[in-house]
This record gives sequence, structure tokens and C-alpha cells, in this order.
Amino acid sequence: MPINNRIAAFHADMTEWRRDIHAHPELGFEEVRTAGIVAAKLRDWGIEVHEGIAKTGVVGVLKGRTDASGRAVGLRADMDALPMSETTGAAHASQNPGRMHACGHDGHTTMLLGAARYLAETRNFDGTVYFVFQPAEEGRFGAKVMMDEGLFARFPMEQVYGMHNWPELPAGEVAAVAGPVMAAADRFDITIRGTGGHGAMPHRSVDPVLVASHIVTAMQSIVARNADPMHNAVVSVTQIHSGTAYNVIPEEATLAGTVRTYLPEVQDMIIAHMERIATSVAAAFGATAEVVYHRGYPATVNHAAETDVAAAAAARVVGEGAVKRDLPPCMGAEDFSYMLEARPGSYLWLGGGRGPDTVAVHNPGYDFNDEILPVGASIWAQIVETVLPRRD
Ligand code: NI
Repeated sequence: MPINNRIAAFHADMTEWRRDIHAHPELGFEEVRTAGIVAAKLRDWGIEVHEGIAKTGVVGVLKGRTDASGRAVGLRADMDALPMSETTGAAHASQNPGRMHACGHDGHTTMLLGAARYLAETRNFDGTVYFVFQPAEEGRFGAKVMMDEGLFARFPMEQVYGMHNWPELPAGEVAAVAGPVMAAADRFDITIRGTGGHGAMPHRSVDPVLVASHIVTAMQSIVARNADPMHNAVVSVTQIHSGTAYNVIPEEATLAGTVRTYLPEVQDMIIAHMERIATSVAAAFGATAEVVYHRGYPATVNHAAETDVAAAAAARVVGEGAVKRDLPPCMGAEDFSYMLEARPGSYLWLGGGRGPDTVAVHNPGYDFNDEILPVGASIWAQIVETVLPRRD
């Protein structure tokens, strides 16, 4: 694999850092140890360090040999682990019960550190690089909190790039896809209120179980009949709760579920139809329904020009044939989406598959593939040297 030689030279160091972080996983906004390691290493390499952004976030600032262009680029890695128990049995397995790096953010942190070390040593670029080490990607909005605390005002980057390891792609391959790559992930709760009564005397009640069933059925028409067939959308009712006895018609029933979309207009359409169907169906039966809709991370949408830049940089590392430009998007979600709403940029998938031994992320047997550490670090470095070419 034609990775950067200088970065290849510290592959063993990166493996050691990655396994140390893996053994000490921390949940979102609690990455105190991890952030401390990141800050100490950046300082060792002469990089200016800003800590405490979104509690445990760290930003490193590195100037190139020259700053004739005044340009700046941001590279982002996430640092948090998941609340689950590890079953890998590896020597570097989690030492924190109920905490696990099952999404490879230990590898993301390490790859960005590897790039930082190389770029600090060579400074073979013109302008400024911001290394953004983000807390709390797993459902806790760490990217958004960093932005709310002034990330882009304090560190004025013109473009921002993200990278996630992707076990579904073989190690040594990269996906750089323009447009939507990850979905918006929302949650909803619907409360249906009827009139309770005796199970044997239904005519004296308004049965919320029957109403909930009609609402679930009617909501299937949103994707089937209201969404443009060319647009992707998922509406899944995943919970129905009601009742306590065989002979009691309950007062209340609740529904809950998830909505996944790529386009904001599809998301808005689904919310409007869900509200209308729930309240109107309930009213038709003499009940009421209240919809509480929780918007989660927006869709992650890659910008075309920056995706071309990232793809070209990746091709210089892994070869043109190993860069996939047309992988279908994933219905998972990612809070780097907020950064891509604010700045042009791109989110790459870095293959980490191990053939038949591949384990999916978020599985208790998952372990980041250390073979790809220098590949990711080299792609980061190449992006910087491509976007901010030397002028002297
Ligand atoms: Ni992840």
C-alpha cells in the first residue's frame, strides 16, 4: 500500500497509541484521559493547543512554512466510545466495564494524531491546519456543541473534512461520494388518549389500542403514498405500549419510532403527514393524539468540489482504482453533518474490512483494524498538502 513513508515509519507508535486509547474508552463529554493524551502529544510536536471546547474537545493549530495564501483547512476526528461491553478478548480490550470503542473512534483519534505529527515535522504546506478532536459523536451532539461554543469563529477554516473507518469496505479502499452519505435520524413519540372502561363493555369506552393500531397502519402510507418514489425515507413504528389487564380497556396508548431521511423537504413532509394522520385518525374515533417529534442529527451531505479534492488525495495514497465514488448512502447518522452544513467539506469512508473475519461497528467483538492507521493518516496529510500547496 503506497502510504507516506514518514508516516509508515511510525506505524508501530500509532498502533500503540490506538491500543492504549482502546483499553481506556470514555463516553461522550467524559473523554478526559483521551483529550489529555491528544493535547500532550500535540504540544510535544510544537502544535498550539486549545482545550475545553465542548468540555473535552481539543483543537490543534498548525501553521505551514509560509502563510502567503492565508488559507485554512480543518480535519476532524471523534474521540468517544459506546456504552457497551467488549467481547474481543484482545490484550488491549476495554478496562472500563460497560464502555467500549466499538465504532473505531480510537482509530480516528490516532490517525489524526499521526497526521498531526507528520505535518508538524514537515510543515510542507502554506496556511493553517486545524486539528479538531471532537467529543460525544455517539448521539450527544458533540460537533454541534463545539460549533455553539464558537469552533468556526475561533478557528476560521474554509473547508472541513471528516473520516470514518468502514469495515464493509476492504482495507485499502476508500469511498468519496458527493451528496448525501448518511441519513438524518429522528425520533417520535405519539400519545393517544381515549376513555377507559370494562373490556366486556366496549361501547362505554373510547379504545386507544384500536386507535393506535389504525394510526400505525395509516402511517405506512407516508412513505408509500406521500414520498416521491425517487427519494429515500424510512418511517418505523418500533414501540406500542398500552394496557395492564385482560379485562380493562386502557385510557392511553403510546407509539414511538424512528424516521430516516436524506432531504430536509422529505423530513418536513413526513412530520406534517405524521401529525395530520395521528390527530385526524384519533379524532375520527373520538380520541386525541399528541405527536412529539425530536429532530436528531441532520443528513450528512458531502460537497461536490471538496469530495473531488478528498478523492484525488486518497487516490494518491491508495491508488485510483481503490477510491469508490458511487457507494450507496448509509441510513446511519453522524454529527459531522452539522459541520458540513456550516462549511464546505467531505466525509470519507476508509475501508477496514478483514475479509471473512470482518466484524461490524457497534458489535461487541469489533476492534479497529490497525493496518489502516497509516493509510488514514496519509490521506489526511495528502488532503492538507493538496488544499494548501506550498508557495515558496
Ligand atoms: Ni462512529
